[in-house]
Amino acid sequence: MYVFLQMLFVAATVAFTFDELWALQNSLWDQFLYPANLLQINATESSVFAENVQGRVDITRTFDGRELNNEYIFGLFSDPEHLSLVGIPTAYKITQFAANENIASATTIFTFNATSFNNTVVPVTIDTWILFNADGKIAQYDATFRWFGWLLDTLLGAAGRLLFNTTDPAETQTRLGDLLADTICQTHEDYCVGENVQYPSKAECVDFLANKTRFGKAYELGRNTLLCREVHEHMVRHRPEVHCPHIGPTGGDYCVDDKTYADVVTEIYFREPFIPVG
Ligand SMILES: *[C@@H]1O[C@H](CO)[C@@H](O)[C@H](O)[C@H]1NC(C)=O
Ligand SMILES: *[C@@H]1O[C@H](CO)[C@@H](O)[C@H](O)[C@H]1NC(C)=O
Ligand SMILES: *[C@@H]1O[C@H](CO)[C@@H](O)[C@H](O)[C@H]1NC(C)=O
Ligand SMILES: *[C@@H]1O[C@H](CO)[C@@H](O)[C@H](O)[C@H]1NC(C)=O
Ligand SMILES: *[C@@H]1O[C@H](CO)[C@@H](O)[C@H](O)[C@H]1NC(C)=O
Repeated sequence: MYVFLQMLFVAATVAFTFDELWALQNSLWDQFLYPANLLQINATESSVFAENVQGRVDITRTFDGRELNNEYIFGLFSDPEHLSLVGIPTAYKITQFAANENIASATTIFTFNATSFNNTVVPVTIDTWILFNADGKIAQYDATFRWFGWLLDTLLGAAGRLLFNTTDPAETQTRLGDLLADTICQTHEDYCVGENVQYPSKAECVDFLANKTRFGKAYELGRNTLLCREVHEHMVRHRPEVHCPHIGPTGGDYCVDDKTYADVVTEIYFREPFIPVG
């Protein structure tokens, strides 16, 4: 049985050269940068993702399928005019890279322009494992924001200093929370209409998000928090029917406290192991 499965797996696997995998990794990040990322949000044939892609990001959760991953990976960092935490990616440098067969592992330092915080330039390190299909499309990716807790505190510090003239973390969190709540609720007003309405009024939306929902810790961007709804807010405009529930009171299966630490850490999510054959 084991040998049979192993043979099946070999047959389905493509061996790219190291240079090809390096090129695929760079091509992904070229398209991740703003404004190239705008072209990927709606992409089908030209998407970097396979139609049945599986994606996981440690600070949020798992994402199935091309449409969702396009909106998430490329739509989240694509509007310099809109309130956001990290803003837009403007440059990258791959500092660590190993690749074999159809799998690449990389550490990449991005430069983000935090456009909502007076264009503060901030480095962001992302570690990735990527598994490509025979067409060079991403079939699976597993991404980790390295030092994200520190990054979040750094961004909150910048927001406090630049927007609210305070160095007090608690005051910053309250005031930024109010601003985020207002922005998310305006998006709800603008896009979540008819059957997609989640809140009876903007005031009740703001009250729910600012007063009745916790802000969230650095690892809680996929839990029942304001930070989770801030992530999903950026996707609402692309497909309101899918994303409105995520910013609503229920969290629509994405901003919910459904899993413990151990559940998340031990979950077997991916179809294929990130282990090259042999
Ligand atoms: C994506 O498609 C939607 C509707 O199909 C359109 O409104 C939107 O402008 C498109 N976005 C981009 C970035 O092309
Ligand atoms: C950051 O983005 C803003 C708005 O797009 C732009 O005006 C500014 O030049 C950018 N700064 C850097 C360092 O990229
Ligand atoms: C940062 O930008 C905001 C407007 O976006 C402005 O009100 C504020 O004064 C700026 N802060 C500093 C310290 O320049
Ligand atoms: C910022 O706060 C300090 C005191 O904490 C005050 O002296 C200063 O005038 C404030 N600056 C602005 C622009 O409000
Ligand atoms: C949040 O709660 C405070 C105090 O309980 C209240 O004054 C404020 O109006 C509430 N905010 C909203 C947006 O309802």
